[in-house]
Amino acid sequence: MHTHILPGVDDGPASVEESILMIQKGVAEGIKTFVLTPHYRDDADWSRVDSVAAAYDSLKHMCRERGIEADLILGGEVHICEGLAQKLKENPLATLGGRGSYVLVELPFTQLPVYTSDVLFRLLTARYIPVIAHPERCLYLEGNLKLINKWVEDGILLQMNTGSLNDRYGQAVKKLARKLLKDGLVHFWGSDVHSIRDEFNFDKAKGMPDNEIRNLTMLLCGTFGA
Ligand SMILES: [Fe+2]
Repeated sequence: MHTHILPGVDDGPASVEESILMIQKGVAEGIKTFVLTPHYRDDADWSRVDSVAAAYDSLKHMCRERGIEADLILGGEVHICEGLAQKLKENPLATLGGRGSYVLVELPFTQLPVYTSDVLFRLLTARYIPVIAHPERCLYLEGNLKLINKWVEDGILLQMNTGSLNDRYGQAVKKLARKLLKDGLVHFWGSDVHSIRDEFNFDKAKGMPDNEIRNLTMLLCGTFGA
C-alpha cells in the first residue's frame, strides 16, 4: 500500500508508460496488489477527484489490455487538516478502496499541528480508521511516543515505509523506524514509490509483522472486488 503510481495527478510519474513500468517492476518482485494513494494536500487536489478516478480507470484498462496481473486499488494520501472528516464524506474516493473506512493520513514533516489528535478523534467518531502514513519520517514524533501509543490504543493504525529501514531517508528516520517496530506500533508496510527509480523494498519487511495488511487486502480486494 501507499504508492504514487497514477500518472499526471501528483508528484508521481508524468506518463502512463512509466506507471506501467512501475507496476511491472512490482509484479516482478511478487507484488500482486497496488494501493494507489495520490496526494490530497490542498483545495486544488480535493477538486480533482474526477480526474484521479479517470486516470485510475484508464490505468486499470491498460494493465488488462497488456495482460499484467495486478489488482489496482484506488485510495489517497490525505494531508491532515481541520474538517478532514467532512472532506472525506464528500469525497469517499480518497479513502482506501473508496470504502469509506480506512484512510491514509499524512502529517507534516516539520511539526505536529495542534489540532492533530482532535481531527483523528473526529475521524474515529465518524467511523473512519485513520492510518498514519510513515510516522517514522516525522522525527518530532520521537518525543511524542506516549501520544502515538495513545493513538494506537484508540484504534489508529500506523504505516511504515519499507525504505525507512535502509538509508533512503537517513539514519534518524531509520532509528525511529526501528523504535516503532520494537514497540509493536507498525500495522502496515508501504513503499511510497513515486517513480521508476524508487524501489519497493519489500525484502526489507520480510518476517516483520503485517497481519493488518492481510486483513486490509482481504477487505479491499478479496471480499468486495478491486
Ligand atoms: Fe506518499
